[in-house]
Amino acid sequence: MGTNTVQPDMLQQLEQLRQEAEAALAQANSTEATRTWHSEYLGRKGRLTAILRNLGSLPAEERQLVGKVANEVKIDLELALQERQETIAQAELEAARSAESVDVTLPGRPMWDTFYTTSPDLLLRTHTSPGQIHAMRAYAPDPLRVILPGKVYRYEQVTARSESMFYQVEGIAVGRKITFSDLKGVLTNFANQMFGEGRQMRFRKSYFPFTEPSVEVDMDCVICGGKGCPICKYTGWLEILGAGMVHPIVLQNGGYDPAEFSGFAFGMGPERITMLKRSIDDIRYFYANDVRFLERV
Ligand code: FA5
Repeated sequence: MGTNTVQPDMLQQLEQLRQEAEAALAQANSTEATRTWHSEYLGRKGRLTAILRNLGSLPAEERQLVGKVANEVKIDLELALQERQETIAQAELEAARSAESVDVTLPGRPMWDTFYTTSPDLLLRTHTSPGQIHAMRAYAPDPLRVILPGKVYRYEQVTARSESMFYQVEGIAVGRKITFSDLKGVLTNFANQMFGEGRQMRFRKSYFPFTEPSVEVDMDCVICGGKGCPICKYTGWLEILGAGMVHPIVLQNGGYDPAEFSGFAFGMGPERITMLKRSIDDIRYFYANDVRFLERV
Protein backbone atom coordinates (compact mmCIF):
# COMPACT_ATOMS: atom_id res chain seq x y z
CA MET A 1 0.00 0.00 0.00
CA GLY A 2 1.43 3.29 -1.20
CA THR A 3 -0.01 5.17 1.71
CA ASN A 4 2.00 3.07 4.15
CA THR A 5 5.14 4.77 2.91
CA VAL A 6 3.69 8.26 3.35
CA GLN A 7 2.35 7.77 6.86
CA PRO A 8 5.48 6.37 8.57
CA ASP A 9 7.45 9.00 6.75
CA MET A 10 5.40 11.81 8.27
CA LEU A 11 5.30 10.19 11.67
CA GLN A 12 9.04 9.82 11.47
CA GLN A 13 9.42 13.45 10.51
CA LEU A 14 7.31 14.47 13.48
CA GLU A 15 9.36 12.33 15.87
CA GLN A 16 12.56 13.71 14.47
CA LEU A 17 11.21 17.22 14.80
CA ARG A 18 10.32 16.58 18.44
CA GLN A 19 13.80 15.33 19.24
CA GLU A 20 15.57 18.16 17.46
CA ALA A 21 13.29 20.74 19.01
CA GLU A 22 13.86 19.39 22.52
CA ALA A 23 17.63 19.34 22.03
CA ALA A 24 17.57 22.91 20.67
CA LEU A 25 15.39 24.10 23.54
CA ALA A 26 17.86 22.75 26.07
CA GLN A 27 20.51 24.96 24.42
CA ALA A 28 18.36 28.09 24.52
CA ASN A 29 19.71 30.15 27.41
CA SER A 30 17.83 33.41 27.21
CA THR A 31 14.27 34.64 26.75
CA GLU A 32 15.36 35.97 23.36
CA ALA A 33 16.68 32.51 22.34
CA THR A 34 13.38 30.85 23.34
CA ARG A 35 11.51 33.30 21.11
CA THR A 36 13.72 32.40 18.15
CA TRP A 37 13.20 28.73 19.00
CA HIS A 38 9.43 29.20 19.04
CA SER A 39 9.33 30.78 15.61
CA GLU A 40 11.65 28.12 14.16
CA TYR A 41 9.65 25.13 15.43
CA LEU A 42 6.14 26.23 16.36
CA GLY A 43 5.66 29.55 14.57
CA ARG A 44 3.44 30.21 11.56
CA LYS A 45 6.42 29.75 9.26
CA GLY A 46 7.96 27.10 11.51
CA ARG A 47 8.89 23.50 10.84
CA LEU A 48 5.81 21.90 12.43
CA THR A 49 3.53 24.01 10.26
CA ALA A 50 5.59 23.01 7.22
CA ILE A 51 5.01 19.31 7.99
CA LEU A 52 1.33 19.86 8.63
CA ARG A 53 0.98 21.54 5.28
CA ASN A 54 1.41 18.11 3.69
CA LEU A 55 -1.41 16.68 5.78
CA GLY A 56 -3.92 17.43 3.05
CA SER A 57 -2.18 15.01 0.67
CA LEU A 58 -2.90 12.05 2.98
CA PRO A 59 -5.96 9.86 2.74
CA ALA A 60 -8.61 10.79 5.31
CA GLU A 61 -8.01 7.91 7.76
CA GLU A 62 -4.26 8.54 7.88
CA ARG A 63 -4.71 12.25 8.06
CA GLN A 64 -6.51 11.71 11.35
CA LEU A 65 -3.66 9.68 12.91
CA VAL A 66 -0.88 12.00 11.72
CA GLY A 67 -2.95 14.99 12.77
CA LYS A 68 -3.34 13.53 16.26
CA VAL A 69 0.39 12.82 16.62
CA ALA A 70 1.25 16.30 15.29
CA ASN A 71 -1.06 17.81 17.86
CA GLU A 72 0.60 15.83 20.66
CA VAL A 73 4.04 16.95 19.49
CA LYS A 74 2.81 20.54 19.45
CA ILE A 75 1.38 20.34 22.99
CA ASP A 76 4.50 18.62 24.34
CA LEU A 77 6.76 21.23 22.80
CA GLU A 78 4.62 24.09 24.08
CA LEU A 79 4.79 22.66 27.60
CA ALA A 80 8.54 22.14 27.31
CA LEU A 81 8.87 25.76 26.16
CA GLN A 82 6.86 27.02 29.09
CA GLU A 83 9.06 25.12 31.55
CA ARG A 84 12.24 26.33 29.88
CA GLN A 85 11.00 29.94 29.94
CA GLU A 86 10.29 29.71 33.66
CA THR A 87 13.76 28.34 34.37
CA ILE A 88 15.35 31.07 32.26
CA ALA A 89 13.26 33.84 33.84
CA GLN A 90 14.37 32.65 37.28
CA ALA A 91 18.02 32.55 36.19
CA GLU A 92 17.76 36.03 34.61
CA LEU A 93 16.24 37.41 37.81
CA GLU A 94 19.06 35.91 39.90
CA ALA A 95 21.63 37.32 37.49
CA ALA A 96 20.04 40.80 37.64
CA ARG A 97 19.98 40.61 41.44
CA SER A 98 23.64 39.75 41.71
CA ALA A 99 24.58 42.33 39.04
CA GLU A 100 22.90 45.01 41.15
CA SER A 101 24.89 43.53 44.02
CA VAL A 102 22.15 44.14 46.54
CA ASP A 103 23.17 42.75 49.87
CA VAL A 104 19.87 41.66 51.36
CA THR A 105 21.50 41.10 54.73
CA LEU A 106 22.28 44.83 55.08
CA PRO A 107 20.06 46.76 57.50
CA GLY A 108 17.53 49.13 55.92
CA ARG A 109 17.88 52.91 55.84
CA PRO A 110 17.87 53.90 59.54
CA MET A 111 14.73 55.73 60.61
CA TRP A 112 15.13 59.39 61.74
CA ASP A 113 16.33 59.51 65.32
CA THR A 114 15.59 62.44 67.60
CA PHE A 115 17.02 63.78 70.84
CA TYR A 116 15.40 62.76 74.09
CA THR A 117 14.73 65.54 76.55
CA THR A 118 14.07 65.49 80.26
CA SER A 119 10.92 67.60 79.81
CA PRO A 120 7.83 65.39 79.84
CA ASP A 121 5.78 65.31 76.62
CA LEU A 122 8.43 67.21 74.69
CA LEU A 123 9.65 65.56 71.54
CA LEU A 124 11.90 67.46 69.13
CA ARG A 125 10.68 66.84 65.60
CA THR A 126 13.09 65.33 63.05
CA HIS A 127 11.32 66.83 60.05
CA THR A 128 8.54 69.28 59.21
CA SER A 129 6.22 66.64 57.71
CA PRO A 130 4.17 66.25 60.93
CA GLY A 131 2.91 69.76 60.11
CA GLN A 132 1.02 68.34 57.11
CA ILE A 133 -1.78 66.87 59.20
CA HIS A 134 -2.30 70.14 61.11
CA ALA A 135 -2.62 72.07 57.84
CA MET A 136 -5.04 69.53 56.35
CA ARG A 137 -7.26 69.46 59.42
CA ALA A 138 -7.35 73.27 59.44
CA TYR A 139 -8.42 73.51 55.77
CA ALA A 140 -10.35 70.30 54.93
CA PRO A 141 -12.49 69.90 52.92
CA ASP A 142 -11.22 72.96 51.00
CA PRO A 143 -8.22 72.59 48.69
CA LEU A 144 -4.97 73.85 50.23
CA ARG A 145 -1.50 75.07 49.29
CA VAL A 146 0.70 75.57 52.32
CA ILE A 147 4.36 76.18 53.14
CA LEU A 148 5.55 75.14 56.61
CA PRO A 149 9.08 76.26 57.44
CA GLY A 150 10.65 75.29 60.74
CA LYS A 151 13.56 74.02 62.74
CA VAL A 152 14.20 70.30 62.98
CA TYR A 153 16.52 68.13 65.04
CA ARG A 154 18.26 64.86 64.26
CA TYR A 155 20.52 62.75 66.34
CA GLU A 156 23.13 62.22 63.66
CA GLN A 157 26.76 62.86 63.00
CA VAL A 158 27.60 66.46 62.15
CA THR A 159 29.57 66.74 58.92
CA ALA A 160 30.22 69.38 56.27
CA ARG A 161 26.81 68.56 54.72
CA SER A 162 24.77 67.50 57.76
CA GLU A 163 23.83 69.33 60.95
CA SER A 164 21.97 67.93 63.97
CA MET A 165 19.83 71.06 64.02
CA PHE A 166 18.76 72.59 60.74
CA TYR A 167 15.76 74.04 58.92
CA GLN A 168 13.29 72.44 56.58
CA VAL A 169 10.64 73.97 54.37
CA GLU A 170 7.64 71.72 53.99
CA GLY A 171 5.21 72.23 51.13
CA ILE A 172 1.84 70.57 50.67
CA ALA A 173 -0.87 70.98 48.03
CA VAL A 174 -4.20 69.14 48.15
CA GLY A 175 -6.85 69.50 45.47
CA ARG A 176 -9.09 67.69 43.05
CA LYS A 177 -6.81 66.96 40.12
CA ILE A 178 -3.32 67.20 41.49
CA THR A 179 -0.86 64.82 39.82
CA PHE A 180 2.81 63.95 39.99
CA SER A 181 3.35 66.27 37.00
CA ASP A 182 2.24 69.19 39.18
CA LEU A 183 4.87 68.22 41.75
CA LYS A 184 7.54 68.06 39.03
CA GLY A 185 6.40 71.38 37.58
CA VAL A 186 6.46 73.19 40.93
CA LEU A 187 9.90 71.86 41.86
CA THR A 188 11.43 72.52 38.45
CA ASN A 189 10.01 76.04 38.54
CA PHE A 190 11.47 76.53 42.00
CA ALA A 191 14.92 75.39 40.86
CA ASN A 192 14.82 77.67 37.82
CA GLN A 193 13.82 80.68 39.90
CA MET A 194 16.35 79.94 42.62
CA PHE A 195 19.31 78.98 40.43
CA GLY A 196 18.48 80.29 36.96
CA GLU A 197 16.85 78.77 33.90
CA GLY A 198 17.87 75.42 32.49
CA ARG A 199 18.54 73.52 35.71
CA GLN A 200 18.40 69.77 35.43
CA MET A 201 16.31 67.91 38.03
CA ARG A 202 16.59 64.23 38.77
CA PHE A 203 13.75 62.34 40.47
CA ARG A 204 14.95 59.15 42.19
CA LYS A 205 12.43 56.66 43.55
CA SER A 206 12.55 56.49 47.33
CA TYR A 207 10.45 55.60 50.32
CA PHE A 208 8.66 57.77 52.85
CA PRO A 209 5.87 56.21 54.95
CA PHE A 210 3.48 59.11 54.28
CA THR A 211 3.81 59.48 50.49
CA GLU A 212 3.27 57.05 47.62
CA PRO A 213 5.07 57.17 45.26
CA SER A 214 8.01 58.85 46.97
CA VAL A 215 11.07 60.46 45.43
CA GLU A 216 14.30 62.10 46.34
CA VAL A 217 15.10 65.04 44.13
CA ASP A 218 18.56 66.02 42.98
CA MET A 219 19.70 69.04 41.04
CA ASP A 220 22.68 69.13 38.71
CA CYS A 221 25.62 70.42 40.73
CA VAL A 222 25.78 74.20 40.35
CA ILE A 223 29.42 74.21 41.42
CA CYS A 224 30.75 72.02 38.59
CA GLY A 225 27.80 72.14 36.18
CA GLY A 226 27.26 68.41 36.53
CA LYS A 227 30.81 67.39 35.56
CA GLY A 228 31.64 66.08 39.04
CA CYS A 229 33.49 67.77 41.93
CA PRO A 230 34.16 67.18 45.66
CA ILE A 231 30.92 68.98 46.69
CA CYS A 232 28.74 66.54 44.67
CA LYS A 233 31.06 63.67 45.52
CA TYR A 234 31.88 63.42 41.79
CA THR A 235 28.33 62.38 40.89
CA GLY A 236 27.32 65.66 39.24
CA TRP A 237 24.13 65.69 41.34
CA LEU A 238 23.12 67.18 44.71
CA GLU A 239 20.14 66.07 46.75
CA ILE A 240 17.97 69.00 47.73
CA LEU A 241 14.69 67.52 48.94
CA GLY A 242 12.37 64.59 49.54
CA ALA A 243 8.85 64.53 48.09
CA GLY A 244 5.93 62.44 46.90
CA MET A 245 2.18 62.13 46.42
CA VAL A 246 0.32 62.34 49.74
CA HIS A 247 -0.66 58.82 50.81
CA PRO A 248 -4.45 58.19 50.59
CA ILE A 249 -4.60 57.25 54.28
CA VAL A 250 -2.86 60.51 55.20
CA LEU A 251 -5.42 62.40 53.10
CA GLN A 252 -8.21 60.55 54.85
CA ASN A 253 -6.77 61.31 58.29
CA GLY A 254 -6.52 64.93 57.23
CA GLY A 255 -10.24 65.04 56.43
CA TYR A 256 -10.15 64.55 52.64
CA ASP A 257 -11.84 61.82 50.62
CA PRO A 258 -8.96 60.17 48.73
CA ALA A 259 -11.37 59.14 45.96
CA GLU A 260 -11.92 62.82 45.22
CA PHE A 261 -8.74 64.52 46.43
CA SER A 262 -5.06 64.04 45.74
CA GLY A 263 -2.01 66.02 46.67
CA PHE A 264 1.74 66.32 46.72
CA ALA A 265 4.18 67.25 49.47
CA PHE A 266 7.88 68.02 49.68
CA GLY A 267 10.43 68.80 52.36
CA MET A 268 13.53 70.72 51.40
CA GLY A 269 16.66 71.73 53.28
CA PRO A 270 17.20 75.49 52.95
CA GLU A 271 20.77 75.31 54.28
CA ARG A 272 21.68 72.82 51.56
CA ILE A 273 20.03 75.03 48.95
CA THR A 274 21.84 78.13 50.24
CA MET A 275 25.11 76.18 50.19
CA LEU A 276 24.55 75.50 46.51
CA LYS A 277 23.51 79.03 45.69
CA ARG A 278 26.38 80.69 47.55
CA SER A 279 29.03 77.98 47.06
CA ILE A 280 29.37 77.35 50.80
CA ASP A 281 31.32 74.19 51.42
CA ASP A 282 30.46 73.55 55.08
CA ILE A 283 27.02 73.63 56.73
CA ARG A 284 28.55 74.27 60.17
CA TYR A 285 29.19 77.93 59.26
CA PHE A 286 25.44 78.57 59.56
CA TYR A 287 25.48 77.96 63.32
CA ALA A 288 29.03 79.02 64.21
CA ASN A 289 27.88 82.59 64.99
CA ASP A 290 30.54 84.21 62.88
CA VAL A 291 29.09 87.56 61.90
CA ARG A 292 31.29 87.76 58.79
CA PHE A 293 29.61 84.65 57.44
CA LEU A 294 26.15 85.88 58.30
CA GLU A 295 26.82 89.20 56.56
CA ARG A 296 28.02 87.36 53.45
CA VAL A 297 25.01 85.08 53.19
C1 FA5 B 1 12.40 64.26 54.98
O1 FA5 B 1 12.73 64.81 56.02
C2 FA5 B 1 10.96 64.14 54.54
N1 FA5 B 1 10.11 64.66 55.61
C3 FA5 B 1 10.77 64.89 53.24
C4 FA5 B 1 9.40 64.73 52.64
C5 FA5 B 1 8.41 65.68 52.82
C6 FA5 B 1 9.11 63.61 51.88
C7 FA5 B 1 7.14 65.53 52.28
C8 FA5 B 1 7.86 63.43 51.31
C9 FA5 B 1 6.87 64.41 51.52
P1 FA5 B 1 14.87 63.80 54.24
O2 FA5 B 1 15.33 63.11 55.46
O3 FA5 B 1 15.43 63.27 52.94
O4 FA5 B 1 13.28 63.73 54.04
O5 FA5 B 1 15.23 65.33 54.35
C10 FA5 B 1 14.75 66.29 53.43
C11 FA5 B 1 15.82 67.33 53.13
O6 FA5 B 1 16.29 67.93 54.36
C12 FA5 B 1 17.09 66.74 52.50
O7 FA5 B 1 16.95 66.60 51.10
C13 FA5 B 1 18.12 67.78 52.86
O8 FA5 B 1 18.03 68.90 51.99
C14 FA5 B 1 17.68 68.24 54.24
N2 FA5 B 1 18.43 67.54 55.29
C15 FA5 B 1 18.24 66.27 55.75
N3 FA5 B 1 19.10 65.97 56.73
C16 FA5 B 1 19.87 67.06 56.91
C17 FA5 B 1 20.94 67.39 57.82
N4 FA5 B 1 21.36 66.54 58.75
N5 FA5 B 1 21.48 68.62 57.71
C18 FA5 B 1 21.02 69.50 56.78
N6 FA5 B 1 20.02 69.27 55.93
C19 FA5 B 1 19.45 68.06 55.98
